[in-house]
Amino acid sequence: MQAMDWLKEAVIYQIYPQSFQDTNGDGIGDFQGIIKRLDYIRSIGINTIWLNPCFDSPFGDAGYDIRDFYKIAPRYGTEEDFEELVKEAHAREIRVVLDFVAGHTSMDNPWFQAEAEKPHSADSNRYIWRNRDFDPATGPQKGDFVSNFFWYQPALNFGYSEITEPWQDPLHAPGPQKNREEMRKILAYWFDRGCDGFRVDMAGSLVKPQDTPASVEATKAIWQEVRAWMDEAYPDRVLLSEWSFPSRSINAGFHLDFMLHFNTPGYSSLFFNGKGTLAPPKDQAYCYFDAEGQGSLDVFLKSYSEQREATRGKGLITLPVGCHDFQRLRCAPRGWDELRCAWVFFMTQAGPPTIYYGEEIGMRFVENLEPKEGSTLAGITAVNAGTDLGERAGTRTPMQWDDSKNAGFSTAPAERLYFPIDPDEDRPTVESQDKDPNSLLNFVRELIRLRKANPVLGTDGEFTFLNTTEQHYPFAYLRELDGARCLVVINPSRHARSVDLRVAGEPCEVLLGQGCVCERHGESLSVTVAGHGFGIIPLR
Ligand code: NOJ
Repeated sequence: MQAMDWLKEAVIYQIYPQSFQDTNGDGIGDFQGIIKRLDYIRSIGINTIWLNPCFDSPFGDAGYDIRDFYKIAPRYGTEEDFEELVKEAHAREIRVVLDFVAGHTSMDNPWFQAEAEKPHSADSNRYIWRNRDFDPATGPQKGDFVSNFFWYQPALNFGYSEITEPWQDPLHAPGPQKNREEMRKILAYWFDRGCDGFRVDMAGSLVKPQDTPASVEATKAIWQEVRAWMDEAYPDRVLLSEWSFPSRSINAGFHLDFMLHFNTPGYSSLFFNGKGTLAPPKDQAYCYFDAEGQGSLDVFLKSYSEQREATRGKGLITLPVGCHDFQRLRCAPRGWDELRCAWVFFMTQAGPPTIYYGEEIGMRFVENLEPKEGSTLAGITAVNAGTDLGERAGTRTPMQWDDSKNAGFSTAPAERLYFPIDPDEDRPTVESQDKDPNSLLNFVRELIRLRKANPVLGTDGEFTFLNTTEQHYPFAYLRELDGARCLVVINPSRHARSVDLRVAGEPCEVLLGQGCVCERHGESLSVTVAGHGFGIIPLR
């Protein structure tokens, strides 16, 4: 099947491998653990998994600092374990997407080490050396080279669109050429081992100075070349970008972009409540998915519709349910009721849903954890973070499977766990939620089932915002596809809200609803939604 055909039907599950399931008792998740849980993953309705970087690394940034792009990190298992994972996933019709850190490496990477051993020489430039006169005894230090994120993540050299310093290379210098060739080698190597695609870390960061119009165009050109090659050589594999700028990334050849907390605004205005890592935009005191009901959809809708218009028919946008870089959705004071409302939105969005592990059972953002492997950004100026991401540890705690030791994550002594288990006595687990028909997990399963059974709710359907009153509560939008029409209304606030919508069609039996009543009055459809209510209602 061609890449886009399966991606449109994808429901993606993001696995942070170190925190998912440990099987060898070292306190860190592994491939065998993922294999063990594939049936569970399938039971949710997921058909694609994306693993955060699982390559050889000193783990200064949890694996986003790669030492060897062609080698599995031993802590996750052997090369054979990786192959078994791909085989077992494919046997269950689950595709496997890996994470490609295209723009930087670890300082331990042999490419970096080789260049670092030759100070005063300008013959090799896979990296961007500001200063090659460093003391060979100490090796290069912070500032001697250009970094991409933490200072110890040296940027790979893709050249400068505009040269202002003698140490900057033009786009087609030998170093940048070498790096571009290597990109294809890396992708092909993993594609040949059965990988179905890559999520590309900081996809917009290649050409420097980053984000100037000329550099954006030059970076896009690099990806367009990659995509053209993939369309020929691997037409069934996908490229997903962490760029959070669909009008750039999709036009650069990516099949899909994540709308996140940076670049295009919108995500934060919906979900960040300032109690976890991030706050809503400065001029907005409350995020939209908040029980106070004082948020606004303005920022999101403007940004989202602009990005959709710019990418229509060319590629997809996903608004992910959580991610390893910011607070979990269940971040106090947001509670279970608002959570369900958010899930209705996520599972009826016009792009493939992406679910960060544990969100489906409502795992909590855990505060005040000791940082680990670059989890904290507070007080650190990560070069390109663009925003203060703050604490990422609370989002990376181990998956909660059951009530056995360490919540079923690992048999290791508690102090050896990658991160501690959420200490909350009432922490949700897969086992308890699986049994409870009213659990969040079963609600999520039902939403995914509905999305699959009703293509109008899926990726191809049109998305039109309907509630244009100033209040924006309830959130109301129309999904349309091939003559089918479906209204979605969501009221994350704790107060009942009503709105008259200018939309044609008779409301039919709700597909899923809670406290939602619709009545036709001439031209308008009067909708009343109880606090924390929602409805998915076909219109005929
Ligand atoms: C974005 C990743 O999502 C994040 O976890 C990482 O720290 C930076 N890129 C640097 O690679």
